[in-house]
Amino acid sequence: MPTIFWIMLGNHKTLTIDNVDGNLKGFLMNKPDQIADANAQWWEKMVAENCGFTQPWLDLEREVLEQYAKGQLENVPKPLDEIYPPEILADVAGKDVLCLASGGGQQSAVFGLLGANVTVVDITAGQLAGDRQAAEHYGYPVRTVQADMRDLSALEDACFDLVFQAPSMAYVPDVGPVYAEVGRVLRPGGLYRADAQHPVTQFVDTDVWDEGYRIHVPYGVRQVEQTGEGAREFRHYLDEIFNGLIAAGFMIRQVAEAPYHIRYDPDAEPGSWEHILMHVPWSFAIIVHKLS
Ligand SMILES: C[S@@+](CC[C@H](N)C(=O)[O-])C[C@H]1O[C@@H](n2cnc3c(N)ncnc32)[C@H](O)[C@@H]1O
Repeated sequence: MPTIFWIMLGNHKTLTIDNVDGNLKGFLMNKPDQIADANAQWWEKMVAENCGFTQPWLDLEREVLEQYAKGQLENVPKPLDEIYPPEILADVAGKDVLCLASGGGQQSAVFGLLGANVTVVDITAGQLAGDRQAAEHYGYPVRTVQADMRDLSALEDACFDLVFQAPSMAYVPDVGPVYAEVGRVLRPGGLYRADAQHPVTQFVDTDVWDEGYRIHVPYGVRQVEQTGEGAREFRHYLDEIFNGLIAAGFMIRQVAEAPYHIRYDPDAEPGSWEHILMHVPWSFAIIVHKLS
């Protein structure tokens, strides 16, 4: 027998699903759940603490963005290298772009400045405030939608030319519901820049440097509470990532490694973000298009 617990938390109904199979589980997983609530709460805390992924990019220059998109920059200034591959930014003026799980005013600022019609979906209200702040700062319109990336029902079918997903896939247990919703909201031929984390190195212990960072979580463990405060991250295996995209009706066009490892700094402090990224492959992107 499937076991379903309903928990009332303020105005939120939170679902814990245990032993629910088949279509019912697929349906229930599309609704906001405890995982999404816990991760949203953690990200609200990150916003309150002004952490790196929550500060809008307010000193971008359109000319530099255009050069980056055309591959004309020899040295890519930080933080632009976080928007990769650069060609995903080419010809976006006038296009309908969804920045998925991208709250904070970073990706939306880049697309907005390049003239795209930008919608941002994020589960964290404080992050979306950063997108509105960036839009006001530069003077372009933006639509912000607070939603779980697994349930884009606030958005119509086939209304985007490009979906750019920020580093975020680790926050959902399964990639399938995200791929299905992205496929629904994309126009035929539309592009999806899917986020993925390297499953081998995802849960590396970066607290201790001993001539290397330790892989201490068994590869079979799918879920880790990284923060000690309820927020959870999930490992997705390579076959789930790639076969999931194919099964959802996408054609793979390109795979792009995050370029962070090429920021080589011999003086980087062990344990610092720079040092970690020099040693541990973090994420990659898969560029796909919707077949029909
Ligand atoms: C690492 S940040 C990435 C966004 C940021 N703009 C950046 O600089 O890359 C991860 C984002 O995912 C969002 N997020 C986490 N779980 C989510 C979910 N289930 N649905 C939508 N957004 C989610 C968080 O609120 C956060 O804004």
